[in-house]
Amino acid sequence: MTKPRIFVTRIIPEEGLEMIRREADVEVWQDPLPPSCKMLRQKARGMDALLCLLTDRIDENLIAAIGPQLKVISQMAVGFDNIDVAAATARGIPVGNTPGVLTDTTADLAWALLMAAARRVVEGDKFTRAGKWKTWGPIDFLGPDVTGAALGIIGFGRIGQGLAKRAQGFDMRILYFSRRRHPEAEQKYGAQYADLDTLLREADFVSLHTTLSEETHHLIDDARLKLMKSGAILINTARGPVVDQAALYRALSSRTIAYAALDVTDPEPIKPDDPLLTLDNIIIAPHIGSASYRTRARMATMAAENLIAGLKDVRLPNCVNPQVYDRIPG
Ligand code: DGY
Repeated sequence: MTKPRIFVTRIIPEEGLEMIRREADVEVWQDPLPPSCKMLRQKARGMDALLCLLTDRIDENLIAAIGPQLKVISQMAVGFDNIDVAAATARGIPVGNTPGVLTDTTADLAWALLMAAARRVVEGDKFTRAGKWKTWGPIDFLGPDVTGAALGIIGFGRIGQGLAKRAQGFDMRILYFSRRRHPEAEQKYGAQYADLDTLLREADFVSLHTTLSEETHHLIDDARLKLMKSGAILINTARGPVVDQAALYRALSSRTIAYAALDVTDPEPIKPDDPLLTLDNIIIAPHIGSASYRTRARMATMAAENLIAGLKDVRLPNCVNPQVYDRIPG
């Protein structure tokens, strides 16, 4: 019997590749950079399944070009704003993602960025390497205390709540804003619901944990940055376009807010001539929120599980468009 054919858009942890190699003929894109749209279309054409990443644009044209034999699109990420899910759904193609497994790892990074920004760790490191450390300075590298400060969490899903859990250990006042109230989590983490403007006005640290949608695109813009405290620190581990980056540059360079720490930018990678890169009061990490050995291995096996289920016409363990099963028994 001929095996199904799979295209994997980058080298992923071996644990996941091993699983799909047992079931299918697998072609893996070997370059460290993602395939171009043209190359992706060429490579994916005729495949039975696609294992993709957030760096691949999976739009309606690509889905159509792959062909009617396509059974499943499996994304190795929790976010899936790079995929035209409606187009996949219209063709009855299930789309998988990897929720849950990266919650703690991403919340850890958000916390690391918060601490590093508050205590100016990256600036201090650059200063030391530049040979500028001449003595202990009583007024050098001062930053705000984290303990006892107010933390505003925008988007109170798994990762936002994970950050609240960490903040509890630092006796922080926790405010959150989200589309709906989370009474259990409010109780568990001592978090208080606030409308967005109140949160921005009252928080010393604002951390973003929303998905990217039309509603959240440029959620943090000039007007909202102006509501924030002048000493406030903004952390973004969600998606770059949630922040209007030009507005962030204006806010940081005019000290409307004190500092930002980003794990995500718009676009990714950030352009080398982006003015944000000229500032000292920002930390920019290269989208490493889920980058722990264990989490990436688990994301790869979850993506493989979704992919294999799709090939076998079984309901994906983690499906973002379960409506497809209204039509297909599974
Ligand atoms: C995701 O999974 O959506 C993260 O951004 C990358 O791990």
